[in-house]
Amino acid sequence: MYESESLKTLATKPMMRMRCTGELDGSWLPLKQDWSTRWCTLPEMYKELCAQRIHNFETRESDVFVVTFMKSGTTWMQELAWLLLNQLDFNSAKGSFLFDRSQYIERLMNHPSGIDTITACEKMISPRLIKSHLPAQLLPREIWQEGRKIIYIARNPKDVVVSSYHFLNAITLWKGDLDTFVDEFVNDQICYTSYWSHVIDFWRMRNEPNIFFATYEEMKRDLRNVIERLCKFLAVPNVEEEIMNQLLHHLSFDTMKGSEHNNPTRRLKQGQKTTEDFEFMRRGIVGSYKDELSAVAKEKMDKWTKDSLKDYGITESDIFGEI
Ligand code: A3P
Repeated sequence: MYESESLKTLATKPMMRMRCTGELDGSWLPLKQDWSTRWCTLPEMYKELCAQRIHNFETRESDVFVVTFMKSGTTWMQELAWLLLNQLDFNSAKGSFLFDRSQYIERLMNHPSGIDTITACEKMISPRLIKSHLPAQLLPREIWQEGRKIIYIARNPKDVVVSSYHFLNAITLWKGDLDTFVDEFVNDQICYTSYWSHVIDFWRMRNEPNIFFATYEEMKRDLRNVIERLCKFLAVPNVEEEIMNQLLHHLSFDTMKGSEHNNPTRRLKQGQKTTEDFEFMRRGIVGSYKDELSAVAKEKMDKWTKDSLKDYGITESDIFGEI
């Protein structure tokens, strides 16, 4: 089994952290790494409800996984990848909820309909597009053994912090102020942390044939180029010019925010406790940290980033460009 230990945090549900040791030593992963040093923070219920089932999840040849650290542009990429995998079927995309078309395997909040999300993934028809925020070592083992396709999207940590803070507060899974959130984030106490282990492991695997690595910042800078690269990775036809404009419009922040089939705000408000002003799609920009994080928090995060990356010989801008 995975090894776990309880964690004290300001999360409103009991939390723990997990790692691979012993029999589950991460040896099935294509990265030389001491996996016992890779902890991931999760709600305690994950261990009982998901860990082993996800580890043993049966994959199919046509499966594609969208993997991200939370609040990194997952939903945006899910809509794009779903369209590319489904012959740009805009009618179906405009007529059904994205999260029904593309399931979230380890959904950790109470699902509005009480659904078991792993079973929901098992029942999906192919090609399945499955979302996960889990780090490499906790994903279904078959992904690595069979070389299933993974689309990985990374977003700069300061914007991830701001976006996650608003999200977790608004859905009442965490309580406190932003400076305290930053402390818990860099101390790996927030759900899905360690952030840098998550991102860096996929960055190091970015040239594996089954991995497509892109950033939220790149999608904002040049979505067309990301789409062109993704078509090649998914082995689907290039998007023709006229359709490309339609696709870019469909994927714009304003269009997706305005679409009840892409923006889950209303459904989340109906299905669980949220604050009145909760918005799943809040600002949709690069650099929201600039006017939201305190100077102290920015400095703390920059130092933490430098320390976390020094052993890998890269800087934040090598991954995200200048932000
Ligand atoms: P903000 O909270 O900064 O606005 P995820 O889907 O991984 O939960 O990520 C959510 C973040 O992606 C939110 O960031 C959301 O606004 C942003 N986002 C969603 N769709 C987008 C789009 N079409 N264009 C730009 N940003 C988008």
